[in-house]
Amino acid sequence: MESILVTGGAGYIGSHTVLELLLAKFNVIVVDNFSNSSRISLDRVAALSGSSVTIVEGDLRDQDRLDEIFLNFDIRTVIHFAGLKSVSESVSDPILYYENNVVATFNLLTAMKYHGIKEIVFSSSATVYGVPVTLPLLEDMTSAEQTNPYGRSKYMIEGMLSDLYKSDSDWGIVILRYFNPVGAHPSGMIGEDSKGIPNNLMPYVAQTAIGKLAEVKIFGNNYDTPDGTGVRDYIHVVDLAKGHLAAVNMCQKNTGLERINLGTGLGVSVLELITAFSRVNKVNVPFSVVDRRPGDVATSVAGVKKAREMLGWSTSLNLEDMCRDSWNWQSLNPGGYKN
Ligand code: NAD
Ligand code: UFG
Repeated sequence: MESILVTGGAGYIGSHTVLELLLAKFNVIVVDNFSNSSRISLDRVAALSGSSVTIVEGDLRDQDRLDEIFLNFDIRTVIHFAGLKSVSESVSDPILYYENNVVATFNLLTAMKYHGIKEIVFSSSATVYGVPVTLPLLEDMTSAEQTNPYGRSKYMIEGMLSDLYKSDSDWGIVILRYFNPVGAHPSGMIGEDSKGIPNNLMPYVAQTAIGKLAEVKIFGNNYDTPDGTGVRDYIHVVDLAKGHLAAVNMCQKNTGLERINLGTGLGVSVLELITAFSRVNKVNVPFSVVDRRPGDVATSVAGVKKAREMLGWSTSLNLEDMCRDSWNWQSLNPGGYKN
């Protein structure tokens, strides 16, 4: 039976996407090295969906392992999430990022080409836009000036995919540029299991509300934004996961290469997010303002017309849903998947 191969399927966005794929009756194979995830996420996905998922433990840096997977399973389409995603870690260890993101993707594409599999959905990021010049960010505005090795790795992979498509127009390639994924499945059974102290705002807010962290440090309140704090386009991970089903559908129907933003098109400031989180969940979130974080931009908001027109997809969950579901996951799983 034809399957979808999901690389990094045990991770935060991957597990939510695998759940949606199973609910839509796709056959799913996950390959993951579990470097930043737990098998428990997939046990819970199986329980939620009432279906099973085939799990292959493997590292995309291992070409032989990839070849084995393509030989053993009848794979039609690949959704490629696997990779590392910490901006600060990429600055301190760039080689690790080029190896896990660029080399691993090179291996995956090599195996796909060899086995004649030509449909891929790739996880890119709004980070490829660098410092925004005009807003909202539209898909043809890509900058070559990413501010860190993580961003550069995504930009390099986008270039690799584009060259591949130019060499062979039988490929169907959808590059999805995520804005700021937050929230969790409403069941509270799967969510983001950050290792150590979170870098991102929403998990930091949730861990402050539960008392693990003392207060949220707002990185600057002197930006050129309505309240001076940074503005982002937060997207609920369940909406994001559903965007991948639309992308799979698109690359199974057409050949071509498209870069598509996945966001809501709405900007939310740090202060607005903290206020909404406290109000919706009736919890106290202490905060103070500190210096700007180097490398942060004032505002990042997606243009969403292309996603609507080409994928027939748009978001349906709002900031309240994101805050409620993040808190539900955090309070039901205070130690992540370890409890
Ligand atoms: P995640 O860390 O939760 O998931 C990534 C998964 O890939 C993990 O399960 C990890 O174990 C696995 N993995 C990493 N390196 C691997 C390798 N060499 N071989 C096999 N498996 C490997 O991250 P996520 O938040 O789910 O992100 C998924 C993708 O989306 C990543 O490519 C990330 O860069 C991209 N993205 C994420 C965000 C975000 O804010 N979460 C934003 C934009 C883009
Ligand atoms: N922020 C704080 N305090 C914190 C954490 C964040 O004030 O403790 C602020 C940031 O300054 C920013 C906003 O909250 O204004 C969002 O920050 P996040 O770290 O949650 O998200 P970023 O937009 O900085 O980063 C995200 C992804 C990166 C990606 C980047 C650019 O996490 O992987 O978008 O697309 F590179």
